[in-house]
Amino acid sequence: MTKTPRKIIIDTDPGQDDAVALLLALASPEDVTVLGITAVAGNVPLPLTERNARIVCELAGQPGMRVFAGCDRPLRRKLVTAEHVHGTTGLDGPQLADPVMPLQDQHAVDFLIETLRAEPAGTVTLCPLGPLTNIATAFQRAPDIIPRVQEIVLMGGAYFEVGNITPAAEFNIYVDPEAADIVFKSGVPLVVMPLDVTHKALTTKARIAAFRAMGSEPGRMVAEWTDFFERFDMQKYGSEGAPLHDPCVIAWLIRPELFSGRHINVEIETQSELTLGMTVADWWGVTERKPNALFIGDLDAEGFYALLAERIARL
Ligand code: RIB
Ligand code: CA
Repeated sequence: MTKTPRKIIIDTDPGQDDAVALLLALASPEDVTVLGITAVAGNVPLPLTERNARIVCELAGQPGMRVFAGCDRPLRRKLVTAEHVHGTTGLDGPQLADPVMPLQDQHAVDFLIETLRAEPAGTVTLCPLGPLTNIATAFQRAPDIIPRVQEIVLMGGAYFEVGNITPAAEFNIYVDPEAADIVFKSGVPLVVMPLDVTHKALTTKARIAAFRAMGSEPGRMVAEWTDFFERFDMQKYGSEGAPLHDPCVIAWLIRPELFSGRHINVEIETQSELTLGMTVADWWGVTERKPNALFIGDLDAEGFYALLAERIARL
């Protein structure tokens, strides 16, 4: 029986790892139908994240994909970016020409609202790969769309792995904790890919060589992006490679059996400056708080990279 592709909207702040996630999605039409890509300020400011999203669509040979610019700052706080990890363009590594394909005129939040109202309820999955500002803004502006969302599969948070931007918080959640709090309390079914699992999805020389060996532009780009992207994490963690965070979201949609986790309660710290943006995950069930998220803790890394290589080789 052929599987019906899942309709998704990818909300993203490219970033090299976002770019690999976008390529994986755009290379997998039998698994996901990308209704649109919404850019948000995060790794780098919005003018760069929307530019980068269009560059990746052209690299995937899909200049007709609709890319929308969304919020250029968090709900309430100053924007914190991560050029120290991703470089000044957000896609540092290879030299990249400006995109030719157009940016959509419609604001990303209006696209999210319009699409969720137009598509049959329960048939659209949101895939946030950056701060949750666009999603939370759409929920605040149009609460009627919240029960219409099929599922939110996001990269963000950390528990056993602790934080990467502060000792307590992971970057996507830390940049806009109020937005994350809205999403985690929304009641929409959540699948969360925290650092606990993404730090097990490490690049290695052999895995990067497999992309370069494809002899294609997408393969070369992924190799050069991961070469650049891994230098920061390898120095910081002393690991052999860098964690490919965001592709875990798309890989879960395609092959969920590669991942394992627990359905638990996860809440967001928004008050304490010391632990702001922490995902307080009740992994051991020590509270009566209602479970609201499938919190992923582990993956088959070999299977993950085999899927990445197989799909990106198609482009
Ligand atoms: O903490 C990792 C996350 O922050 C990834 O999504 C990366 O792209 C950055 O957005
Ligand atoms: Ca990201």
